[in-house]
Amino acid sequence: MRLPDALALLEPLEYRRIPVGVPLKPFDCGNADLNDFFHKDAKDYASQLLAVTYAFETDDLTVAFFSVLNDAIYNKDSHGQRITNKLTRRIPNPKRRPTFPSVKIGRFGICKDYQRNGVGTAVITFIKHLFTASNITGCRFVTVDAYAEVVEFYRKCGFHFLHDADRRDDTRQMWFDLKTFSPD
Ligand SMILES: CC(C)(COP(=O)(O)OP(=O)(O)OC[C@H]1O[C@@H](n2cnc3c(N)ncnc32)[C@H](O)[C@@H]1OP(=O)(O)O)[C@@H](O)C(=O)NCCC(=O)NCCS
Repeated sequence: MRLPDALALLEPLEYRRIPVGVPLKPFDCGNADLNDFFHKDAKDYASQLLAVTYAFETDDLTVAFFSVLNDAIYNKDSHGQRITNKLTRRIPNPKRRPTFPSVKIGRFGICKDYQRNGVGTAVITFIKHLFTASNITGCRFVTVDAYAEVVEFYRKCGFHFLHDADRRDDTRQMWFDLKTFSPD
């Protein structure tokens, strides 16, 4: 399987699924909740089958981690209103269902020394690749509840807002259409 050129930045790094029988390497992305999740909670989420966490590492440290879990985007809200025409009109009419299969990025961080160097974008490209080239079930969208302060990062990675109701919240629901992903 050919990896997208955009992933060249990740090539020197080891990639592994957490947990394996090796201790975690140091990680600090500047966000205490995400650091805590990586060091303390990721293994429990994995053992409960609630989220799977992957890491990119050097010999000495964890450069990046992300955790993913199955998700679904609902076509209509609880009042039966179509929530996002922008999203649903991408799906041919006969194929529209009440929910669309998705994968959620539950947690995601790049260690401080590596931020603003394109590593975050490369990891997002890796996730897009993972759920198109290697996925064993149908998965149309990537979703994320993005911290308000990083929505610009996700927009640059091709994500859209699900709706406007959360525009003043600490996090915003965003989606990316995997059908638009082509490796290069
Ligand atoms: C947000 C984060 C994942 C971005 O990773 P990164 O490796 O720094 O991002 P990149 O270098 O690939 O940046 C890609 C683009 O997004 C922009 N960007 C990155 N972080 C940004 C931020 N916090 N605010 C606005 N723009 C941002 C970059 O400037 C760059 O723009 P450009 O292509 O015009 O130069 C990383 O900074 C991080 O781990 N932050 C702390 C944890 C966090 O907030 N995680 C997200 C949880 S939802």
